[in-house]
Amino acid sequence: MALPDSFIQELLSKNDIESVASSYVAFKRRGRNLVGLCPFHGEKTASFNLYPETNSFYCFGCGAGGDVITFIKRIENLDYIDAVKFLADRSGVKMPEQTHENDQISRLRLRILEANREAARIFHAALYRPEGKVALDYYHSRGYTDATIKHFGLGFAPAEWDYLLKALRQKGFKDDELIAAFLAARGRNGGTYDVFRNRVMIPIIDIRGNVVGFGGRVLDDSKPKYINTESTLAFSKSRNLFALNFAKNAGRELNLCEGYMDVIAMHQAGFTNTVAALGTSFPEEQMQLIARYADRINLIFDADGAGQKATRRAIDNLRKTGLDVRVVTIPNGKDPDEFIKNNGAAAFKLLLDRAANAVEHRLLELGKNHNLQTSEGKLAYYHEAAKLLAVLDSPVERDLYAGRLSEILSVSKEAILQEIDSVRQKKQRQEIKQQLPNLIRQEKREMQSVNPDAVKFERAAAAEESLLGTLILHPDYIRQVRATLPAEQMMTEFNRGLYQRLLDRDRQGLLVELAFLAADYDEAGMAYIARMVRDVGDRIVNPEEVARCAAVIREEYALRHMNDPSSASDEDIQAMMEALRKRKQ
Ligand code: GTP
Ligand code: MN
Repeated sequence: MALPDSFIQELLSKNDIESVASSYVAFKRRGRNLVGLCPFHGEKTASFNLYPETNSFYCFGCGAGGDVITFIKRIENLDYIDAVKFLADRSGVKMPEQTHENDQISRLRLRILEANREAARIFHAALYRPEGKVALDYYHSRGYTDATIKHFGLGFAPAEWDYLLKALRQKGFKDDELIAAFLAARGRNGGTYDVFRNRVMIPIIDIRGNVVGFGGRVLDDSKPKYINTESTLAFSKSRNLFALNFAKNAGRELNLCEGYMDVIAMHQAGFTNTVAALGTSFPEEQMQLIARYADRINLIFDADGAGQKATRRAIDNLRKTGLDVRVVTIPNGKDPDEFIKNNGAAAFKLLLDRAANAVEHRLLELGKNHNLQTSEGKLAYYHEAAKLLAVLDSPVERDLYAGRLSEILSVSKEAILQEIDSVRQKKQRQEIKQQLPNLIRQEKREMQSVNPDAVKFERAAAAEESLLGTLILHPDYIRQVRATLPAEQMMTEFNRGLYQRLLDRDRQGLLVELAFLAADYDEAGMAYIARMVRDVGDRIVNPEEVARCAAVIREEYALRHMNDPSSASDEDIQAMMEALRKRKQ
């Protein structure tokens, strides 16, 4: 990435991690560091650490870590270059010119966005041409007004193999760019064709107004019902919500629906605070995106089996974000689109107002599974309901629902609260026992995916990482190490690459610091590096310790390259002997 160092340096000097992160996290000072609740995963005890001295952060709960740019990437849901822009805007630093031209990836990303924008125009215009009449009629038959069609930029991809291709080629787009945009695909014979054919087209627009993708629906009952843009350089399903560009300004309460068509109908009916997940998995990342724009969320899902399952999954991931979650169940298995069409907006408003919140919803659902006329049924319900309520961390809420349950079962509230308490205590004991190995395992798994070699070469990797963490914290040592440790002697690929980068930067007289690596590594990579830095932490580093790490690396390297002793140098042979001697001890 070709942002000049001088620029990044100025950016960092005006955006120290403490002031940046403090607008997202409430910190308490602990010694030289700050701790707070991690904004990247739900937690109740603070394990999110900020290290002002190294301008870095690390969460012991979820393993997130890195520099200030990585922090913004994650919390604002931006890619590298946009995170840099965000910080530049925030602090009034001017972005260097022509950054994008230097960077193929961001240039392609821009081309994808341009192609998408043109495609949206072409699809929309097609509606008002003879070939698009069938689609315009379709929208009208679903009750969408022309104003709605315009507002959402709805369109149509005619039933041809190259309708869009022809138009976009004429505008100077290359086939490869359109393939990268998921607008075109390459056939087996090498020809290119339109991905979206004979479908009504719904543009997906991100919060900055970019057209990032499309949903394309058939006009009849054929399959597949939808084709949606898959991941591209400009689009990730789990980092976007349909119609958030409109809904983000509609207040701190959001409605979450299943489908595009529901959202469009809801907006038309005046519920402009409505979004849809893109797909049916409701990943945690997407739910956290919601939490950034809302305090209360109404889940609006079909009452059919699949819808209920989706509700459950969404609730579980939403709960982690600390939002007030309510569930709107629409009677007779209708979706909001149909319900509004049949009963009007006012009736829907009533449903919204009456929305039971998630716990109450689960309580009532659970009740349906038991025959409350029998004492066995009541007892079974009592135990299951207590388990359900035991999950609530707020005593007020527990009290509230224990009250509800006591009415349903005619059992005293005190008895119910006692039962809940004992379930909670049991659970807590279990959790403490379970969590620790899980966290360790998770961290291990993530680390393995970043640097898989580390498992194979444990001793080497430990020394490498201790050395690299030290070099990042104390770049003065790079000269000392450079002379005695060539990059190829690092056994693990990730560390070798990192070491090479540090050497290169130092050779070019550039600063070595965590934040300068953010351009080259993804979040997992940055977390990995942040962990090395954290592990060196406050340890006092001296030349002997640095030399020891380098020696271990050389020994391990020599050990693996013993098969050809004839070409080994005297130093190598000495290192080998040393390594063997230590192995035997
Ligand atoms: P209508 O049935 O026209 O009201 O459409 P809908 O948008 O309400 O769709 P539905 O409730 O069937 O599905 C909800 C969402 O799931 C859609 O908006 C799509 O995002 C997604 N979806 C549905 N069918 C498919 C499919 O065949 N393929 C893919 N990839 N996604 C689908
Ligand atoms: Mn629908």
